[in-house]
This record gives sequence, C-alpha cells and structure tokens, in this order.
Amino acid sequence: MCSQLCPDALWVLMLLCIPAAHAAKCPQQCVCDQIQLTVTCVNKNLTQVPLTVDEITVKLDLRGNDIQELPTGAFKHTPYLTHLSLQRCNIRRVKEGAFRGLGRLVFLNLANNNIDILYQESLDGLSSLKQLMIDRNRVEEIQPGAFSQLGFLNLLSLTHNQLVYIPNMAFQGLQNIKWLRLSHNSLNYLDTEALAGLFTLTRLSLDHNELQFFPSETMTRLPEVTRLDLSYNPMTYVGEEVVSMAKLTHLFMDHMSLQDMDNTAVSKCPNLIHLDISYNQLRVVQPLSEGNPKLARLNLAGNPVYCNCYLRPLREWSIRNKVKLLGTCGGPAHLSGENLEAVYPSDLRCQSQEAMLKAEFEEATRVTTPPTQEPANKVKCPANCVCEAETHHSSCENRAHTKVPRGFSPNTRLLDLRGNHFHYIPSNSFPAVAQVVSLHLQRCKIVEVEGGAFSGMKGLIYLYLSENDLSSLSPDAFKGLPQLTYLHLEKNRFTGFPKGAFKLVPSLLALHLENNSIPKLEPDMLSEAEGLRALYLTGNAIEHVSPRALDHAGDLDTLHLGGNKLKEVPTEALSKAGNLRDLRLSGNSIRWVGPNAFRPLERSLKELYLDNMGLEKMSQNSLAGLGAALRSLFLEGNQLEEVPNLQPLTSLEVINLADNPLMCDCPLLPLRMWIEKVNLKVRATCANPPELRGRRVKDVHVFRACPGGESLPSPPTVTPKPAKAPKATKPKPMHLNGIRQVKMLKVKSKLRKGSNTKPAAAKKTRERRSTA
Ligand SMILES: *[C@@H]1O[C@H](CO)[C@@H](O)[C@H](O)[C@H]1NC(C)=O
Ligand SMILES: *[C@@H]1O[C@H](CO)[C@@H](O)[C@H](O)[C@H]1NC(C)=O
Repeated sequence: MCSQLCPDALWVLMLLCIPAAHAAKCPQQCVCDQIQLTVTCVNKNLTQVPLTVDEITVKLDLRGNDIQELPTGAFKHTPYLTHLSLQRCNIRRVKEGAFRGLGRLVFLNLANNNIDILYQESLDGLSSLKQLMIDRNRVEEIQPGAFSQLGFLNLLSLTHNQLVYIPNMAFQGLQNIKWLRLSHNSLNYLDTEALAGLFTLTRLSLDHNELQFFPSETMTRLPEVTRLDLSYNPMTYVGEEVVSMAKLTHLFMDHMSLQDMDNTAVSKCPNLIHLDISYNQLRVVQPLSEGNPKLARLNLAGNPVYCNCYLRPLREWSIRNKVKLLGTCGGPAHLSGENLEAVYPSDLRCQSQEAMLKAEFEEATRVTTPPTQEPANKVKCPANCVCEAETHHSSCENRAHTKVPRGFSPNTRLLDLRGNHFHYIPSNSFPAVAQVVSLHLQRCKIVEVEGGAFSGMKGLIYLYLSENDLSSLSPDAFKGLPQLTYLHLEKNRFTGFPKGAFKLVPSLLALHLENNSIPKLEPDMLSEAEGLRALYLTGNAIEHVSPRALDHAGDLDTLHLGGNKLKEVPTEALSKAGNLRDLRLSGNSIRWVGPNAFRPLERSLKELYLDNMGLEKMSQNSLAGLGAALRSLFLEGNQLEEVPNLQPLTSLEVINLADNPLMCDCPLLPLRMWIEKVNLKVRATCANPPELRGRRVKDVHVFRACPGGESLPSPPTVTPKPAKAPKATKPKPMHLNGIRQVKMLKVKSKLRKGSNTKPAAAKKTRERRSTA
C-alpha cells in the first residue's frame, strides 16, 4: 500500500501511527484511555504499582489490589498524575518519600487500607495536593511534621481511624486547609495546641469520638471555624462561656449525654445561627444569654423536655427573638409529643396535672350549662353505639345506621358517626347534645343537609362532612352553630362555591373544599364569610378566578389553590387578600409568572408554592416585593432553565429548585453566587449542557469562568452523595380523650385576639387539621 503513496503522504501516515504505538504502553491488567490519559487497574490483585504506566498519565486508579507497602519513589515514573486512587489495597505502610515526584497531584485517596502510622515524610512531595483521604485505616499515630509539606491541602479526611490523641502541632503546615474530618476516632482529649496553626480552617468534624469535655482552649485557637460538629461525644455538661468562637455559625452537639447546659455556654459565639443539642438528656433548657443575636434555630428534638412553667422563659425568649425551636414536649402527659413551637407560653403551667385538666375542662364548658353529674359507670347510649363516660366520646362508626341515632348522653363532647348510610340529615337531627365539640359525619352518603339540621349544637366547633355526595347547601344548613370554626366539605360534589351557606356561621375560620369540582371562583364569593382565615380549594377544576373573587377576604391568611387548572397567577384577585401568608398554586398549568405577580402580598407572604406546574419562565421581577417576609419558596418540578434573582429574599429558610432543567451557564451565575452566600440547601441540579447533567449547580466549574464568577471557590471533586429520600410524616392518630378538643377551643379564642396572633394561629389551623 505504501508503495503507491508519494513520500509526503507516507510521512503523514507515519505521524498517524504514533498514537497507536503509544497505546501499546499499557500495563497488561489495566484499561488505558489515551484521550483522557487515565489508567484503570481495579480489583486485579496487583502486588505492586505497575511499572509500565505511561509517563503522561494524569489519572491512575489502583483500587482493590494487594500492594501492602508503598516503597520510596513508587510513582516516580508518572510525574503528571493529578488523581491517584489507592483504596482497598491492603496497604500497611507508606514509606518515606513514597509519593515523591507527584508535584501535580491534587487528589489522593488512601481509604480502606491498614495504615497505622503516618511518618514524618510519608507525604513528602505532594506540594499541589488539595484533597487527601485516609479514612477507614488504622491510624493511631501521626508523627510531627507528617503534613508539613501539604501547603495547598483543602480537605484532610481521617475518619474511622484509631486516633486516641493528637500530638501538639500535628497539623502544622496546612496553610490552606478548609475542612478537617476527624470523625469516628477515639479521641478523648485534645491538647491546647493539638490543632494549632490551622488559621484557615472553616469546618471541623469531631463527631463520634470520646470527648468528655468541650475542648475550649483548643477551639479558641481556630479563628475561622464556622461549622463545628461534636455530635456523638459523651459530654454531660457544657459550662459557662466554654464555646468561644468568633465566627462559628453552626454548632452540632446532638446525640451526646448532656444533662445540663449553662445558658451562657455559647454566649461568646456572636455569629451563631444554628445550635443543635438534639438527642440529649435535657429536661429543662434556659433561654440563652444575650450573646447570640443571629441565632435562628435551636434544635431540642429527642430531649425529654418537660413542658411546664420552667420552660416558659425559653418559649417566651424564642418568640421574642424569633428563634425556631425544634422538638417536642416529653411531658406532662397532656402536652406530650406536642411541637414546642405549637405550645404557647400560657400553656406552660406548673399546677398539678389533675388541676390543669379540670381547669381546661371548665374553660371549655364555660359557654354551656354545667354538666350534670352522672354515675360514673352508667352513660346514656343508643343501641349499636359505644359511649365512654370518662372521655365523653360516643361512636357509632361503620354500623350501617340509616338514621342518625338519638339518645346520646348530654355530656357527649365527641360524636363519631362516620361510615353510615344516612343519605340525608333532616332538621333537628341532634337534639340534646349541646356540648358536642366535634361531629364526624364522613362517608355517610349524604346528598342533602336540611335547614336547621344541627340546631342546638351550641358548642360545635368541628364539623366533618367530608367524603359525601353534597353538591349544594341550603342557606340555613348550618343554622344554630354559633361556634362552628372548622368546616370540612372536602371530597363532595360541589360544582360551585357554596356561598350562601356561611351567613349563619359567624365563627368560621377554616373551610375545606378540597377535591370537589368547582370550575371558577366568582366575584364576592366570601362576602358572607368575611372572617375566614383559611380556605382550602386544592384539587378542584378552577380555571378562572374573578378579579373580585377575594373581595372581603381581608382576614384570609391561607389559600390553597393547588391542583387546579389555573393558567396564570390570579394577581388581581390576590390584591384584595393582603394578609395572605400561605399561598399554594402547585400543580396548576401556569407556564409563565410575570412581573410583580405577588406584589399585593409583599408584606404578608411567608410561604409560596409554585411547584410542579410546568413553569417555563419567571420574569426577573416576578418575585418583586417579596423581600424580607418570604420564608419558603417551592419551585421544584418545573421547566425552568433560569430563575429570577433570589438575592432580595433575605429571610428564606426553605427553597426547592429540584427537577428543573437548569442551564448551567453564565446566565445562571447570579443563582450560583447566591447559593455561595446563603446557608441553605438549595437542591438545584444542572440539566444542560449535557456533560453537566445531574451535577449540583454548586459543584460545577463553569461559573468560575463567567465574568464575575472568579471569586467562587473551586468545587470539590468528591462524588456527591445521592439525596436522601424525604422522611414520611406519620399522621397522628385521632385523640379520643377530649383534651385536644379543649385545646382547640383555646386556639380558637387566640385566633380571635387580633391580628398579632395570626401567624401562629394559621399554623395551628393546619396542624389541627392534620391531627383531626
Ligand atoms: C484475586 O485473588 C483472589 C484470591 O486469591 C481470587 O479469588 C481472585 O480471583 C483474584 N482476582 C483476580 C482478578 O485475579
Ligand atoms: C384529594 O385527592 C387526592 C387524590 O386522590 C388525595 O391525595 C388528597 O389527599 C385528597 N385531599 C383531601 C383533602 O381530601
């Protein structure tokens, strides 16, 4: 063939042959990629570093071999390596100078070996190294100077080793270290100078060790640390001002054995935002002293916190300083399991439990005649029903009754008639049960409620008519229910908002109409329910919202319109609902959100759900005005390639951008810069360009090349962990002891007390709904 070519062509052919000759230099057991310049020899039982690796290789992967000992100069024939993986190689010993010559290496992984000593010169020569993993070895000794040559190291990970102590100055020389991970060792003491010299360290992980005291002196020498993790150490007490760290923002001391914590323990951490002391033995927690003006979250979950008058100062302090308390009451019995945030200072009392129950009961029955005393063991009860004297509950659930039974005790507080076949409820169906607070009529095949059906139920607060066949309501269906506050009409057959029926229920605060077939919201629909605070219309067929639909909705603070057929944000209608805090539009077909769409809610809106709508574009000013009030923003499951400027949302605590086809290129730089600044998990993943698909926006390099993006830190090269599945929240079983009902009464009276209590009240409304 060559004989037919001219000499020039022959020369070209020879040039083309060179790469092929090159490719031949690949160790027999390995896979070599001449374009990426990588060599992979994984799980081959190699007993030494292969000698025939091409000199120009940049990535060498030797995981899963049997190398035992790395001799001096083991890699001297591959000086261009940037990445070297040596996990699971049975390495016991790294001889002095083993990595000498690897001046370009940035990433070295030695995890899952048997290294026990890090010698003074084991890591010599790694002058560009940025990440070093020595996790899951047997390191029990670090010789002084072992890291002294690693001036560029950002991350040093020594988790799951056998360190009992750390000699003074052990980490000297790490002039650029950002994160030091010493989790899962056996450290029981840290000498004052153990971590000396780490002037750039921002994050320190010391969880799962044996520390019994907070190492105050040691920590004070770490001027830049913002996150400190001490979880799972056996500390029992944190004393006065022991944590003195000027830049600390996140402190984790969960799963320890804390029995007490001085209220000045963290007062020398002026930047602290998040303090986690969950899963300890704390029963009483005092308000923290005034040294933490930025504190936003105090996690007390899993502590046996006793919700009595001793907790009141903490609760008042948390309300005053807007510190979110996480956790639940461990007692007394009637508050057990209640969220700390849902307990009001006035609920935190120190009477005997018996006295408290009695007082609450009296408060609840104040409006009606005092109960007549009945013999304890005998209670009036209709046939085919179950009635409990002690709890005042009567139930005829699922008994195939075709008429509402009569003859319940006049003391009945909860009447459960679910799952019967009443078809319709004639007037006066509930005589002589004026004390019923909660009436359950779900799944009773009801098509009609006659006027005056509930007459005489002066104490009724909760009425459940869900899962029936109602399509309309007579104007006096709810006559005679002066206290009715929560009305459940979800899963019926309404094809219009049953406007006329609310004139006679002056106390109505929450109206549930989810999963009906309402196609539009007409003008003035709330004119007879002006006091309504929460309106749930999720899962209807609403296509059109009249601009005047929400006239008279000045008190509304919760509006759920998810799962409808809206094509745009009903901004004009919303302008009449200027106190709305929680607006949900999830699952509509809104493709575009224009400028100032939520402007009318700028003072009030805290939670905004715009997820799963097929949203393709949000104008730059679509969130204008929402500034400091907004706490949660849900945008997941849309078609957004870009997002509007989030910078003004300074109070954001939750944001979800997952499942959007984000285009990771310079137009997205503002988002990337914002992510860098905020302390939130943002859940934003690139979909484009294709080579970045699936990578977190935070982890890709592209933005550093954009004008203005130079200051971004270089992203870590560690592979991201798969996101955890969200925890399922288990609905609480319905309480059948009446106390919850009593508390609801109190909630209601709080709801009535002016607008200052609105936020908490709305939250309560939601919580009650989920428990009822
Ligand atoms: C490595 O050695 C083990 C045990 O000696 C053997 O079972 C395995 O097949 C070997 N693997 C290779 C790739 O040679
Ligand atoms: C509405 O229907 C959906 C789908 O069946 C269901 O998931 C949701 O729980 C229902 N909501 C209410 C309040 O009934």
